[in-house]
Amino acid sequence: ISADGVRTFELAAQTGETTFTAGVRTPTWGYNGAFGGPTLRAANGEKVRVVVRNELSEVTTTHWHGMKVPALADGGPHQPIHPGKTWAAEWTVEQPAATLWYHPHNHGTTEAHVYRGLAGMFIIDDKVSPEDSPLPSDYGVDDVPVVVADRSFAADGSFDERRRDAAGMLGDTLLVNGTVSPSFAATRELTRLRILNGSTARSYRFELDAGPLLLVGTDSGLLPEPASVAGVTLTPGERAEVVVALEPGQTAMLRSVPHTLGLLGTTERASGTRDAFDVLELTRGEAGSGGGSDAVKHASLSDLTDWVDAGGFFAAAFPAEAEPDKRRTVTLQDNKINHRRMNMARIDEVVTVGDRERWFVTNEHFLPHNLHIHNARFRVHSIDGRTPAAELRGWKDTVYAPPSRTVIIDVEFGTSTDPHLPYMFHCHLLQHEDQGMMAQFVVV
Ligand code: C2O
Ligand code: CU
Ligand code: CU
Repeated sequence: ISADGVRTFELAAQTGETTFTAGVRTPTWGYNGAFGGPTLRAANGEKVRVVVRNELSEVTTTHWHGMKVPALADGGPHQPIHPGKTWAAEWTVEQPAATLWYHPHNHGTTEAHVYRGLAGMFIIDDKVSPEDSPLPSDYGVDDVPVVVADRSFAADGSFDERRRDAAGMLGDTLLVNGTVSPSFAATRELTRLRILNGSTARSYRFELDAGPLLLVGTDSGLLPEPASVAGVTLTPGERAEVVVALEPGQTAMLRSVPHTLGLLGTTERASGTRDAFDVLELTRGEAGSGGGSDAVKHASLSDLTDWVDAGGFFAAAFPAEAEPDKRRTVTLQDNKINHRRMNMARIDEVVTVGDRERWFVTNEHFLPHNLHIHNARFRVHSIDGRTPAAELRGWKDTVYAPPSRTVIIDVEFGTSTDPHLPYMFHCHLLQHEDQGMMAQFVVV
């Protein structure tokens, strides 16, 4: 925290070298290091300043994914940081506890910059000191970031940026926080995993071999109460917070299992959904005692009261009597949104500040696509008229859009206005985004 009471962070985007496998050096990019980035953390209500220095030889940007921010601070393609220059973003956090992240967003090179290693987590807390949270909250001890990304390696050890499928670059090696075949030694009964799908194209279906997962949070916030789920599917950019309970001496494996994205068989295969990975091994030593998991199972975590009232279901994300202020249709085609490719000089949509909007999102294409909206959070109202799975019932900022289906979302935007400087909404499969599957909106 600096003298003026602003929580200040400094990031330097730089090149480096990382040893993922013994004896092999891979050229990588990172924030304040060779790969990945430090976890930034701030509380609801705090003033934040991040100063980003570009030590790369090409233009980049740094975007705060999931954050409600003034357009000037968003870090999208309209805030380029030229080589050797710095950019300072400042805003006041106005949102509840959530696991957000940050990554480059330069139009046309986002996929490459993320793939080379630029990405980090940005944790929002409800209060400056979260001690009284019912959830494990001791960072690195029982509250652990799990940034999952796939890579393929060329013969010389460098990242292979050429192997492409329709979804984008699918790697055969998983990195968790930049580590191959990672293991976490738990020292307490409960461990909270903040899982981020930081891949550019691959989706995952996370399951624990030891039993169900206790889901406590989605992209933009905590659930009203934990939900026991068999697994969680995350497409690129999505997050889930889960709590895992381990007995003394127990070992468990977090896996990604074959799953379906509702595609044609050949497209499923080409999108990597048939692949299986060990993601993270969790071990607990013999020492220590149990207790605590029952308390968490019934904890009240956030005030999404409609969830509780409807017994885990809700008919409408906004209270029934509150009709949306505006309805909008978003259709997805091959690298297009509403039949148009991204044009940085064109404003596609104008949102009135304070309005609650209902978006009807239809994937008219056969490939997997998702939709991420900047400066916003939303609830999934329904998918083809059906109530979504538990993992989609909390606050979200990115949602998968299966082919030939309509996902209805209820969107709430940030409070800043700027009639000229836009935010983006786009597919978060980064190859698609780079190729123009992105559109712009202003909030006025
Ligand atoms: Cu995660 Cu427009 O970004
Ligand atoms: Cu974003
Ligand atoms: Cu896409």
